[in-house]
Amino acid sequence: MDRRQIIVTKQDHSDDIPKLHEAFKQRFRIGAAVNPITLDTQSELLKHHFNNITAENEMKFESLQPVEGKYTFAVADRLVDFAATNGMGVRGHTLVWHNQTPKWMFENRDGSAVDRETLLARMQAHIETVVSRYKGIIYAWDVVNEAVSDNSGELLRPSKWLDIAGEDFIASAFEFAHAADPKALLFYNDYNESVPEKREKIYTLVRSLKEKGAPIHGVGLQAHWNLEHPTIDEIRQAIERYASLGMKLHITELDVSVFQFEDRRTDLTEPTDEMLARQAERYQQFFQLFKEYSEHIHSVTFWGAADDYTWLDHFPVRGRKNWPFLFDEKHRPKQSFWDVIDTARS
Ligand code: GLA
Repeated sequence: MDRRQIIVTKQDHSDDIPKLHEAFKQRFRIGAAVNPITLDTQSELLKHHFNNITAENEMKFESLQPVEGKYTFAVADRLVDFAATNGMGVRGHTLVWHNQTPKWMFENRDGSAVDRETLLARMQAHIETVVSRYKGIIYAWDVVNEAVSDNSGELLRPSKWLDIAGEDFIASAFEFAHAADPKALLFYNDYNESVPEKREKIYTLVRSLKEKGAPIHGVGLQAHWNLEHPTIDEIRQAIERYASLGMKLHITELDVSVFQFEDRRTDLTEPTDEMLARQAERYQQFFQLFKEYSEHIHSVTFWGAADDYTWLDHFPVRGRKNWPFLFDEKHRPKQSFWDVIDTARS
């Protein structure tokens, strides 16, 4: 066996590799988004490195109540069972969102728009049923996802929720969730959370929810980041701004794309050495920051686990592979992983 083979064998044998969640156990949980396929294909990796999971899609509205009153919990239950068997926690994602919500929610039988009372009653029924089912199991829920607008000068995103129910739909969702499980931690979750203009809108929304007395406990920073954006300074400011409202912070959907959002190149079959080096540097800086603010940050969830499966393989360029995680396509630790482990130990 030459040296290279020895190294590869060692990396494949995960018992020799430090567990990511153990490395950070004094500070925050380490989570991964999963789906029924990755629960099988990434099972060993998940059990070794993660102590928390989130359903990538299986707890979204369209998955749990595709038809009014017909709840489909089988797949979500399987995820919850996997977590229980392996001693992991579960973050719930997500109760109210403009996407992946079936049309029936907003319509009467004749296709016309429902009135406010009907929409809020349907929302309440959904939240009560779902949150009660996992009461005491799911310790934190993303109650409302992505309600803030990316457009300049506009606070809330135009949506059917907003059109029909008005801005109070957000506070109502938190109230319904709190009534169903008073112990669950309730989060507002969004992306571009570290972009200064959007950060201020999220801050304004969360502050107004608090002022109204809505039972909100935290802000979820999705953290779909890349090799250059956002800057460490922008992330730091976002953390401080949200924490100043007394909110708990969860990093909810972390991945580090090797492409800038505007970059449409499609020529790569593997990441370049420069990309991997920069990615490792970024991950190290992020975890340094998370550690520094661990008084506020209680959970760090990746939006996946290893480079063999990521939603970024299709977004924003269809069919283009991306390599956003700490583990490669064969689940071997990347330089990013070792640098993050160093951060935990330093
Ligand atoms: C958003 C949602 C997630 C997921 C990602 C893309 O961030 O919150 O549920 O859909 O987009 O995978």
